Amino acid sequence: MSKKTKHSEKFDPFNIIVFGGDGDLALRKIYPALFHRFLDGQFHDNFNIAAITRKEPESLEFYEQLERFIANSINGVEKHALEIRQFMDKVCLIKIKEHSEKGYSGLSEFTAQFPDYRNIYYFSTPSAAFGEIARTLKAANLIDEYSKVVLEKPLGYSLESSNAINASISTAFQENQIYRIDHYLGKETVQNLMVLRFTNNLFEKAWNGENIDNVQITVSENLGVENRGDYYDNAGALLDMVQNHLLQLLCLVAMEPPYILDADQVRNEKLKVLHSLRHFTKKTVLTDTAKGQYTRGSINGQEVSSYLEDIQKYSSKTETFVAIKAFVDNWRWKDVPFYLRTGKRMKKRYSEIVINFKTVKHNIFPSQEKLSNNKLIIRLQPEERIELVQMTKIPGPGGYRYKPISLKLDYVDSFKERFPDAYERLIIDVIRGNQTLFMRQDELEAAWKWTESISNNWKAANMPNALYEAGSWGPGDSVMEGEDSWITKA
Ligand code: BG6
Repeated sequence: MSKKTKHSEKFDPFNIIVFGGDGDLALRKIYPALFHRFLDGQFHDNFNIAAITRKEPESLEFYEQLERFIANSINGVEKHALEIRQFMDKVCLIKIKEHSEKGYSGLSEFTAQFPDYRNIYYFSTPSAAFGEIARTLKAANLIDEYSKVVLEKPLGYSLESSNAINASISTAFQENQIYRIDHYLGKETVQNLMVLRFTNNLFEKAWNGENIDNVQITVSENLGVENRGDYYDNAGALLDMVQNHLLQLLCLVAMEPPYILDADQVRNEKLKVLHSLRHFTKKTVLTDTAKGQYTRGSINGQEVSSYLEDIQKYSSKTETFVAIKAFVDNWRWKDVPFYLRTGKRMKKRYSEIVINFKTVKHNIFPSQEKLSNNKLIIRLQPEERIELVQMTKIPGPGGYRYKPISLKLDYVDSFKERFPDAYERLIIDVIRGNQTLFMRQDELEAAWKWTESISNNWKAANMPNALYEAGSWGPGDSVMEGEDSWITKA
């Protein structure tokens, strides 16, 4: 097994049982993440992986795919051929035809071989199946106090369906056994937000509506809906991205410092932010939100199809772009707009949080050009970077001329270590039993309530999608770029 020993943390032996185990997410994210932790020596031979499939076990094809995805996730495949083999030996494909005790007999036999191992059930299937899987696991006696369950988003398509799913999961698992995954919380720069805010006095003193003019959170993707049309057309950008990823980022920016870094304390603070979010009305949804759908266009010189072509339908009301002016109605953030924007098939792939500070109250350089405000830019991707934009004197004897200059902290330059994928951190946290980076049921419910104040009012106001060309910055471009629009490009 992997020989490196730089990790001293010891884990109890565990089985990870992945429902949807031959699916895209499992192959692309879950197994490579586990492999990297194994390669890094974080765990050795005290684990097993069961990939649950409903199909006939075309095992050979599955193992070939698995090997390919793992190999694609590392540099220097040849160097690691032995570890890949060792890891692959730990993966067992199990067919489950139906959700019944009998149907789960293969799984029962598998777990019975490892009576001292803790079972982690990873539900990577559509959430409609979650309740049934949980119920059957319980009926088949496959859950004990040490078991855990990881739930992939989206949990339902509405508050009601999400509550129903949670209710059936909680007949089998306690809240402290449930890990609702939001992979944005596993990104390094996202976690760094807490360190940045709560270890640097400089920022924390200025982190409020007295000093901050607005906050902008943008997740711009140039991918379309790929082969996920069926799912996406029921979800749209609001449910796919805003209700979870963007709201979680907003929470980390807006929350009060927890008194201790403990899962419930952190989640209590995030919950307060979610409760403070101002709900939309039929009127404000028209003025403070925008939504759109992409048409044909070109990205990086390549022609790309429209959303309707991608999902092979003649019409759809689903939004692939959304922009929201949100308010957190509490003491710290009174009247500070939080602009949330996300879209598919945009001009560029980038995600960032921009904290726009106010300009100084009085300019003592009156003859000079307009002062720009300080900005703290937290770039999540494609590169991970923090920038502080500040006014600086332009060198020269000719009086005071100034311009905004960026102080840059480039993660890749400062930290030579490999950047683990978000799933690596999150899966390890599941194994070690740390729920800090996972959503609690009450957080989810509050997020749904706010999101539904948008989606329900979109319906009530019959708000249409503005069309935007693939490869642009969204509807009318100005929403993303225009200096004078209500959303200013940072
Ligand atoms: C997923 C969404 O949760 O996040 C996808 O379902 C989206 O539609 C993806 O593309 C974006 O993740 P990342 O890490 O590539 O920004």
